[in-house]
Amino acid sequence: MFKPIGKGFPGAMLSEVLLVSAPGKVILHGEHAVVHGKVALAVSLNLRTFLRLQPHSNGKVDLSLPNIGIKRAWDVARLQSLDASFLEQGDVTTPTSEQVEKLKEVAGLPDDCAVTERLAVQAFLYLYLSICRKQRWTKEDLELINKWAFQGERMIHGNPSGVDNAVSTWGGALRYHQGKISSLKRSPALQILLTNTKVPRNTRALVAGVRNRLLKFPEIVAPLLTSIDAISLECERVLGEMGEAPAPEQYVVLEELIDMNQHHLNALGVGHASLDQLCQVTRARGLHSKLTGAGGGGCGITLLKPGLEQPEVEATKQALTSCGFDCLETSIGAPGVSIHSATSLDSRVQQALDGL
Ligand code: MEV
Repeated sequence: MFKPIGKGFPGAMLSEVLLVSAPGKVILHGEHAVVHGKVALAVSLNLRTFLRLQPHSNGKVDLSLPNIGIKRAWDVARLQSLDASFLEQGDVTTPTSEQVEKLKEVAGLPDDCAVTERLAVQAFLYLYLSICRKQRWTKEDLELINKWAFQGERMIHGNPSGVDNAVSTWGGALRYHQGKISSLKRSPALQILLTNTKVPRNTRALVAGVRNRLLKFPEIVAPLLTSIDAISLECERVLGEMGEAPAPEQYVVLEELIDMNQHHLNALGVGHASLDQLCQVTRARGLHSKLTGAGGGGCGITLLKPGLEQPEVEATKQALTSCGFDCLETSIGAPGVSIHSATSLDSRVQQALDGL
């Protein structure tokens, strides 16, 4: 999958297509509790977002970020002016203010450009110049990507735990506890439905709401967080056991853990009528669901146990779609952020990259 993009700049940019993808992710257990120092389990999904940097014979290079609707084109000569100050710096951590100014100038975005688009393009250029031109991504490069993703999270909701950016960077199934990340060995390839209720939510406000509830009712809310911690630990234990010797009873335990956590999350005040509906629709078909992430709308996950017939899965998806939700069937445990060769992508991805 890995395609070196050449050592030298601008040769790499003139002659090579750069394709990068990152996995979607869900939190299995521990959202919100993780902000208060408890354990969370997070997994990457086999659903990916892509970006492409494509040179053309007319001396232009196109950046396409189809999942956030961004397409930009630059003169290669303009990008070349970023030259040695980015290339020769050795260890890269944070751009200097001089570099930020250069990035802004070269990005050449219009004044009315949305802040998110501006930052996405500048961050891309910086990471491209600092990391992507390397022959391979080292652990240190991935750590840098993770740090940048964390900064993005901070902009979105102020005080993130770091679990979301970590799982998208490293992929697989992770245990996250107070900034310490370890990967779950031998976790099973669970099938899930990921349902987007399409109800917008404000992660910052939801995280603040849980904090306020904890301050207002410490004797009530602290035990809920402790119980969620125990759910994460039990889930970790069962996943480990399933990786060794899968058995149907383990799915029953996973389902019970999902139900208990969903009730706790409701008690923390991060539920929503749309999520209750999602749980009811799947419960009527013998399936168990919980919210994932911040709650208050957003997405939920439903565990698909082995042996479930495909028509039943399709009927469940249809029932959820009829509620106005988007529903995708996927599996957990995909690779983290990755470089691809242009030929390795399927035609749907190519079309999305071409067709903004
Ligand atoms: C949001 O995806 C997960 C939360 O636990 C916040 C965080 O961990 O930063 C709600």
